[in-house]
Amino acid sequence: MNSEKYITSEIETPAFICDLDIINKTLYFHKEIAEKSGCKILFSLKSFTIIEILKYIQKKLDGFSVSSLFEAKLAKKILTNNQYIHFTTPGIRKDEIEEISQISSHLIFNSLSQYEQYKSLINANTQIGFRINPKFSANIDTRYNPCCLNSKLGIPIKDFVNFIKEKSITNFTGIHFHTNCDSTDFSFLYDTFYLLEKNMKDIFNKIKWINLGGGYLYEGNPNLDIFYNLIKEIKQKYNIEVFIEPGSSIIRNSCFLIANIIDLFEGDNKKIAILDTTINHIPEVFEYNYRLKIHNESFNGNNEYILCGSSCLAGDKFGSYKFDNPLKIGDKIIFENIGSYSIVKANMFNGINLPDFYQYDKINGLNLIKKFNYEDFIEKYE
Ligand SMILES: Cc1ncc(COP(=O)(O)O)c(C=O)c1O
Repeated sequence: MNSEKYITSEIETPAFICDLDIINKTLYFHKEIAEKSGCKILFSLKSFTIIEILKYIQKKLDGFSVSSLFEAKLAKKILTNNQYIHFTTPGIRKDEIEEISQISSHLIFNSLSQYEQYKSLINANTQIGFRINPKFSANIDTRYNPCCLNSKLGIPIKDFVNFIKEKSITNFTGIHFHTNCDSTDFSFLYDTFYLLEKNMKDIFNKIKWINLGGGYLYEGNPNLDIFYNLIKEIKQKYNIEVFIEPGSSIIRNSCFLIANIIDLFEGDNKKIAILDTTINHIPEVFEYNYRLKIHNESFNGNNEYILCGSSCLAGDKFGSYKFDNPLKIGDKIIFENIGSYSIVKANMFNGINLPDFYQYDKINGLNLIKKFNYEDFIEKYE
């Protein structure tokens, strides 16, 4: 990928860049999978929320999935009235439920107790659903496995089935599950669906929709036929609408972070490069020990550096990278595939300004969308 095209004399670092040519290609691809499979696609807003870009995303998809009142309001601001807003979170507050219910087309309860607390406050036009926890997932890392022991995410199948039967609940129209993270293996999706089907066939005969969650990577996935066949099968057997709600699959590859090297010195046995960014601009690097891909990295290069962020935290490091040529102060480092969960989680820890946000396309080049400054920093504390 020619990421160097983003480095022009006008760019100030650190900078997030969203490449509209890439996102348009990705959106076109997702539109195609929606057409081929017959599913509806909602963009998961928790992964990315820059409004200028959401306007592009909105045009190609069926709606957004959201997990808080603020995200719901943002979705409402951008979507048209006939697009969907699916809402689910373990954290619904009593003082927010009525507004949430007015905004959401589909409100998905995360627990039975949540449903009992709020059922009388739901707008008559809002479709009610339940998040099911099938206790079956491809993820074994408990930091992001929604099916881990004592999970807070969703209702175990048996509890749900008993509740619906015992209390004769009929005012719900759908179910939701989200059990994966960065998975390319749709066989887990298949197995999860069959597990649900086996244990709640009666319920499938009554509902109008199912939301299969996000966490799957669709673009470039060699197993898409498995996905297409499953969606067709669900629709054919039960005549219900099928939704998916990807975030990363849509936005991850289209964004970059460009940083400048502002200092270089020798460490004990490796060279240290200090960047004008920090891991707090991509907090998942630290949270999940991610190693980001960078432009110009050379696996056999003779010049190795620990790329460090500029905060005072000792662990503010991106990791060790090799290059063909020695780095110089003023060189640019381009982190790739950083679209999801970076900008939404970025913070000004240590008083370090947030990266500017630019969009890029090959006709118009770079366009500054958002610039942050001292006022944004101090506003939070005044
Ligand atoms: C309920 C739910 N749906 C969708 C997503 C989007 O996942 P991804 O960005 O991995 O596609 C998440 C991510 O955490 C989620 O929790």
